[in-house]
Amino acid sequence: MKQILKAAELTSAVNTARQEGKQIGLVPTMGALHEGHLSLIERALKENDLVVVSLFVNPIQFNNKEDLEKYPRTIDNDLRLIANLVAQDGFRATELLAFTPTVEEMYPNGEPKEVYHFGPIEEVMEGPRRPGHFSGVAVVVRRLFDLAQPHRAYFGEKDYQQIAVIRNLLEQIKYPIELVPCPIVRADDGLALSSRNMRLSPAARQMAPAINATLEQAAEMAEYEDVDDVKEWVLDTLASWHEVNECGDGLQFEPEYFEIVDAITLQPIENWDSTDNGAVGCIAVWLDGVRLIDIVKF
Ligand code: PAF
Repeated sequence: MKQILKAAELTSAVNTARQEGKQIGLVPTMGALHEGHLSLIERALKENDLVVVSLFVNPIQFNNKEDLEKYPRTIDNDLRLIANLVAQDGFRATELLAFTPTVEEMYPNGEPKEVYHFGPIEEVMEGPRRPGHFSGVAVVVRRLFDLAQPHRAYFGEKDYQQIAVIRNLLEQIKYPIELVPCPIVRADDGLALSSRNMRLSPAARQMAPAINATLEQAAEMAEYEDVDDVKEWVLDTLASWHEVNECGDGLQFEPEYFEIVDAITLQPIENWDSTDNGAVGCIAVWLDGVRLIDIVKF
């Protein structure tokens, strides 16, 4: 593993790799790595000759200053985790570049002026609640595409709407990059791994797996209940979870949304058979001051 801080150095390394006919995989991250990120890196190492992992907390995708300040920064540990992974045998890739730029290196001309629009995809769920977020994600991802020139780019399905946005971005900019969505990695108790989990208090951490448990039950209910009934049941179950279960130290789930949407267009569906793409349930819930998201495929 080699750490790279400068954009020009990254570009020069990938240019050489491309000239040698190597396949390049990119795993964009904001650091604070966990097993979920490592599963993306592992897959990229298996499917490419050179892997670029970016670790960059992108300020322009945070619409909340406090959230940006609180975002965990654990770069030494991140680099150690990547080095341990690369040391294992059996990968196709022979090289991994960990790109850890400063904000000035990524945005040398100050805050980028470009704005991306994604139409109906960004008019639901995270879009209206985090104005500017997806445009900020698109700006940094495009910059990473330009610098790393990957053949494939790996994204986790926990940020389900982000994957739809990147798919749309690739159509807009017409880059021949294969988007590789990767399944959520969960803790043994079912909680979707997230860098935000480290901000949960012990009581909240104990309560948080109820989100996945509720979504799994919803998937079973979908066999015999209408879309609207499943939606209402999920929201009610989580909102009243504390009263029913009498634990969690007085903590409560505050669901922000739960939508059942077409798996590709992300538009809410009314009936289970009103989509050929499959249906996905996407949820955002507050717990003890931490915003958690998760999905379930129906
Ligand atoms: O999913 C993330 O961690 C970020 O949104 C990404 C894709 C690395 C862009 O900053």
